Amino acid sequence: MLTGDKIGLRARHAADLPVLRTELFNDVTYAARVETAPWRPIGPDSNDPRLVVDDTDEERVRFSVVESRGGTLIGSANLWGIDAHNRCAHIGLGLLPSARGKGYGTDVVAVLCHYAFVVRGLRRLQIETLSDNTAMLRAAERNGFVQEGLLRSSAWVLGEFLDEVVMGLLAQDWKPEPRG
Ligand SMILES: CC(C)(COP(=O)(O)OP(=O)(O)OC[C@H]1O[C@@H](n2cnc3c(N)ncnc32)[C@H](O)[C@@H]1OP(=O)(O)O)[C@@H](O)C(=O)NCCC(=O)NCCS
Repeated sequence: MLTGDKIGLRARHAADLPVLRTELFNDVTYAARVETAPWRPIGPDSNDPRLVVDDTDEERVRFSVVESRGGTLIGSANLWGIDAHNRCAHIGLGLLPSARGKGYGTDVVAVLCHYAFVVRGLRRLQIETLSDNTAMLRAAERNGFVQEGLLRSSAWVLGEFLDEVVMGLLAQDWKPEPRG
């Protein structure tokens, strides 16, 4: 398990699936704002790749996010688009509604940076998020990401086109918190 100040990133467990399915991926608003494909309902026996992890996929690593204290499941996070030649990747995360706004997201980004830069030896990370997603933008900025671009009207979200922001961080600009 990878640990930060407040959270841990561990492998997906079978018991995580119903929680993530109900509270994240079957939430239409969440899916509309986070996914690039249109929302579809996910049934209890679905092997949807957002839930059931494919360990043979070299381009993506999925984690379940847990509270450091107590180990309660609080969300999902992943490193995706891993490009071993250009040594870059993207990060994505989603916390259960009850876990948002408590500093967990900022810590998840920090631990994903550690995984990407230290464990995987990557040089560059990227985040794409809606321009009105203040919490995601701040969580990224707090970890050293800077805005690199604005994709105007790039996301269809529940009846309107919204702008997306591209945030980037290079390994040489990353200032990790000391880890015990
Ligand atoms: C986006 C998300 C991961 C951020 O994690 P979080 O734990 O809620 O954020 P944090 O508590 O670490 O807060 C980060 C910063 O955003 C601010 N913030 C948190 N929630 C906010 C909100 N609803 N509105 C405005 N600012 C907010 C915090 O004050 C903090 O700012 P600071 O660094 O200046 O103190 C989380 O809210 C989430 O899962 N949202 C739904 C899914 C999503 O949008 N995922 C990202 C897709 S790219």
